Amino acid sequence: MEDRKQSPPHVLIFPFPIQGHVNSMLKLAELLVLAGLKVTFINSDHNHDRLVRFTDVVARFAKYPSFQFRTVPDGLPDDHPRAGDMVTEIFDGLIVKTKPALRDLLVVIRPPVDCIIGDGILGFVLDVGQELKIPVIQFRTISSCCFWVYYVIPDLIEAGVIPISGNEDMDRLVKVVPGMESFLRIRDLPSFCQTKNIEDSSLQNVAMATRKSSRAHALIFNTFEDLEGPILSHIRTECPKIYTIGPLHAQLKTRLPEDQKNKASSESSNSLWAVDRSCISWLDQQEKQSVIYVSFGSITVMTREQLIEIWYGLVNSKRRFLWIVRPDSVVGHGGEDIPQELIEGTKERGYLVDWAPQEEVLAHWAIGGFLTHSGWNSTLESLVAGVPMICWPYFADQQVNSRYVGEVWKLGLDMKDVCDRNVVERMVNDIMEEKREEFVKSAREMAKLAKESVSVGGSSYCNLDRLIEDIRLMSL
Ligand code: UDX
Repeated sequence: MEDRKQSPPHVLIFPFPIQGHVNSMLKLAELLVLAGLKVTFINSDHNHDRLVRFTDVVARFAKYPSFQFRTVPDGLPDDHPRAGDMVTEIFDGLIVKTKPALRDLLVVIRPPVDCIIGDGILGFVLDVGQELKIPVIQFRTISSCCFWVYYVIPDLIEAGVIPISGNEDMDRLVKVVPGMESFLRIRDLPSFCQTKNIEDSSLQNVAMATRKSSRAHALIFNTFEDLEGPILSHIRTECPKIYTIGPLHAQLKTRLPEDQKNKASSESSNSLWAVDRSCISWLDQQEKQSVIYVSFGSITVMTREQLIEIWYGLVNSKRRFLWIVRPDSVVGHGGEDIPQELIEGTKERGYLVDWAPQEEVLAHWAIGGFLTHSGWNSTLESLVAGVPMICWPYFADQQVNSRYVGEVWKLGLDMKDVCDRNVVERMVNDIMEEKREEFVKSAREMAKLAKESVSVGGSSYCNLDRLIEDIRLMSL
């Protein structure tokens, strides 16, 4: 018992096995290790293999003696694309294969685990923790505004908002989500809620997992009070113990030792893809705030028609653009050849890569705007860099995030479910010139608040200290 008290608490971190979740939960892991805790991070075999083959992430974490990776199967066949809206397939694989593997690991791992930090989308982690009498803290990689919509899904169903009927007026206000009555439209609901079928498994999975959060020891959000305070007060009426510790990438930068701070944005993206740094050299040659950065994250897929519309919009805007086109991001074959004018326009003003060091790109002086899918990490990274956004949400929380960016935080324009070359062209020009001043002003103000929250004495900084103390108490 005496020995036990002297050794640091052992935390096991278990993310949903996709890029956006692995990325932010690895950042939390690094912060806990820096605070002197022992951390075991669970990767799927598939993702771990990618990290080893394509990146230096595993080697980078090897410098922490109190950190270890352990792997479990994700239950999907090796050749599964793991892109697009495949949340249900991943859930099924996790329940069948991963849940028992996690349980077995928790039984044998030494020293014993004092606390599990589980991805809040995976409700079963709470059940495993409860069975083995290990406290579970849930981490949500999504915005708290989306969490709150997920939480009130039963109310949306009772009010008849879900299922969405075939002839629904998508601009109708939803009105039954407390705190969002005046601006949340049907089209801003998370994709999983925009279903005609109430039995839809994605809807049921997120609703059930989110309701379970009130049973967790505590909830962690990658957000900060000045950004989502009003919605957090609503969530606290149901889940009182909440730690808001974001933006995590900025918090990590604050807490890294001095000699590592400068390298943080290029090294800390925790990517599952090989990073092409040639885009930084290209950016170095551009004028100040002249480039629109285009990236739709790690799992968005688009049709060839959508690709062409966005491409035309960018080329016709006559702006310079840096575009991330993952090799697995365009679905469907055939269609017309790429028109010559797009090829010419791109040679003149564009630069395409498979995967970029995104945090570093957004912080680069040449970037003037970000056309994004509104993934939560991307939103926070853009916000901290003070870069205005154009939002083209794909799925999950992104529809809610983009509404907040456009209507509540006034950090950019919400293109929503429209994919039209003329709209892209107009919005790019609005963000880069016509309406630039108003967006840059609010983006800079929000960036300042974000940075203050992770500075010594700021709300997110203090909340992380409280979280670490809470975990220490669990091991006594
Ligand atoms: C998913 C969901 O879509 C998102 O809404 C949820 O909140 C978290 O999980 P993803 O779609 O990949 O993530 O988007 P996002 O959250 O933005 O995460 C993508 C991450 O990949 C970002 O941290 C971004 O910096 C990084 N990235 C992206 C790169 O490092 N390089 C790139 O070229 C593109």
